[in-house]
Amino acid sequence: MSSDDFKMSAAKAALDLIEDGMKVGLGTGSTAAMFIDLLGERVKDGLDVVCVPTSKASEVQARGLGIDLTTLDEEPFLDVTVDGADELDTELRLIKGGGGALLREKIVAMASERMIVIGDESKVVDQLGRFPLPIEVEGFGLRSTYEMISVLALELELKQALQVRELPNGEFYKTDGGHFIIDCHFEAIPDPEELSDCLSMIPGVIETGLFLGIAERAIIGGPEGIVVYEEPQDEVEV
Ligand code: A5P
Repeated sequence: MSSDDFKMSAAKAALDLIEDGMKVGLGTGSTAAMFIDLLGERVKDGLDVVCVPTSKASEVQARGLGIDLTTLDEEPFLDVTVDGADELDTELRLIKGGGGALLREKIVAMASERMIVIGDESKVVDQLGRFPLPIEVEGFGLRSTYEMISVLALELELKQALQVRELPNGEFYKTDGGHFIIDCHFEAIPDPEELSDCLSMIPGVIETGLFLGIAERAIIGGPEGIVVYEEPQDEVEV
């Protein structure tokens, strides 16, 4: 079986959580696209859902499948978002944004009562950071923002190899919202919370691909079948 088969089995398992009448956030990327395809089949069979896509690509796909779409302006709160991830650890901390949709993905996930991550086992890591962390930044002052991230990385003793994301033709990549992405090749992020807090202090940083305390569950496909990771629960004194 291939990693696509594992992604597909995770997407199928997530589909079982979708019920009639739900408002659903649709993620972006190859795994989310599998989920959208499966959802489209269920909609053809009569499932009644309304969805908010996290990117133009997911919007086009969902529309083509006849899935009823809305916006967060019409429906500011959703029941569930199903999305992929570039990396996750067993505490359900994620790196997202490999596909460039991190800002809309985070807005939609945070507007949802539950965020379910789907992926194949290659996404699960002991420590985040091998996958370059995407940071969405404002175009104004791009060079300054780049340098500020670089200085921060130095202070936090992170490897500093930053790259403004480019298209194959050499032009800077732009997100659906018209911003730029700096991919940070840190290799290891020992304290994702500290990094996230510090990055949010840099004014040109619009959002980071660190999704911390957002996902409720990860459904991961692998050769042994499905493994489910749940958000760590706070200890309750009794
Ligand atoms: C899109 O911006 C990303 O956050 C994707 O969700 C992530 O890159 C996972 O993509 P794949 O499912 O294609 O691995």
